[in-house]
Amino acid sequence: MSEIIQFSPSPSLFGFGALARLPEELRARDFKRILIITDPQISTGGILQRVLDLLKHPLRVELFEEAPTEPLDVDVDREKERFGAGFDALLGLGGGSAMDFAKALSIVMTHGGLLGDYVGEGSVPGPVIPVVCIPTTSGTGSQNTQTSVFTIDGVKRGCSSEYVRPVFSIVDPQLTMNCPPVVTRNAGYDALMHAIESFLARPHPQVPERPILYQGSNPFSRGLALEAFRLIWTYFPQAVSHGDDRGAREGMSMGSHLAGLAFSHSGLGLVHALASSLGGMIDEPHGVCLAACTNMGLSYNLNACEKDYAVLGNIMEEENVSGSTRVPPENLLLNLQKLIHELDLPSRPSELGIGKKDAQKLLNNTLVQTRRTKTNPRPLDDQLHSFIEKGI
Ligand SMILES: [Fe+2]
Repeated sequence: MSEIIQFSPSPSLFGFGALARLPEELRARDFKRILIITDPQISTGGILQRVLDLLKHPLRVELFEEAPTEPLDVDVDREKERFGAGFDALLGLGGGSAMDFAKALSIVMTHGGLLGDYVGEGSVPGPVIPVVCIPTTSGTGSQNTQTSVFTIDGVKRGCSSEYVRPVFSIVDPQLTMNCPPVVTRNAGYDALMHAIESFLARPHPQVPERPILYQGSNPFSRGLALEAFRLIWTYFPQAVSHGDDRGAREGMSMGSHLAGLAFSHSGLGLVHALASSLGGMIDEPHGVCLAACTNMGLSYNLNACEKDYAVLGNIMEEENVSGSTRVPPENLLLNLQKLIHELDLPSRPSELGIGKKDAQKLLNNTLVQTRRTKTNPRPLDDQLHSFIEKGI
């Protein structure tokens, strides 16, 4: 256990029009040769061209436009020799997958070997080619985190190291304005669960010291997570149904950005561990898997943090609650199920083709997610299997 809390945010620019500041931010760091990592949607949708228009001489830019959604380790390993050396920075432009691809590539381009060699906490041996991130969705918050997530041997895993945290990011809500409703929904649900699980994480004094900053819930992460939760809960449905609402897009951009920063200092919990296991078993987006695992994960944790459930429940029902009245902790679960239903997300894994016979596999793949489970508010015990079986 450690008495010391570490704060490690990286610089970022936030706001409509912030993208225009990219050239001066690169110049300030003497980054001249840049490799942009993006995906086919961004490359054909106009955003890439806007970035390229900003990056004039003497900046030299190379492009990789084929970052896959939900990448595998072999996708990254396949590309690592392709670009040669001498880049001052890798620029991840897109959703979480493009940003995580840039982070993963920076590890293997710098240190060689296979991406699988760096799975877990603190396995990256030293600094990597600096990564700059520009998100085009409001979800993962990867621009603010020290983790790159990918699927390896059918399980969603990650490399977590402070060396991988982006050196700066630009979060411009304008870039999310044309994000399709389904992508807004899936990404937004991820951001919502980052805020919730960061806020609920096991208290910092109870988390053993480890080589990364998933150090448990602490005053820095709790403040960020709570404000992130408030913003996301307020603006999420509107951003999905009315994507042209600038206020809603701005609220979601800020909410997801803060949530990423929060969980990168606290860690997450069982819902993410379950969803990562599920995501390795079926081909569904991370946000969809999170929705399907929300009830089983939060039901398991309920008794361990009733007071914090009530804090979040109170924010959800702010307009209905007066003075010191506290909503019951179960309302957090009920309100989330209502939202999941409204957004047409799955409320349990069986809606995605998983059966009760898969409970043991889901459990086994969850137990290996120690990056997540060490900060879950309730230690994992023998009862988890029955929660999973019931929850499927
Ligand atoms: Fe997530």
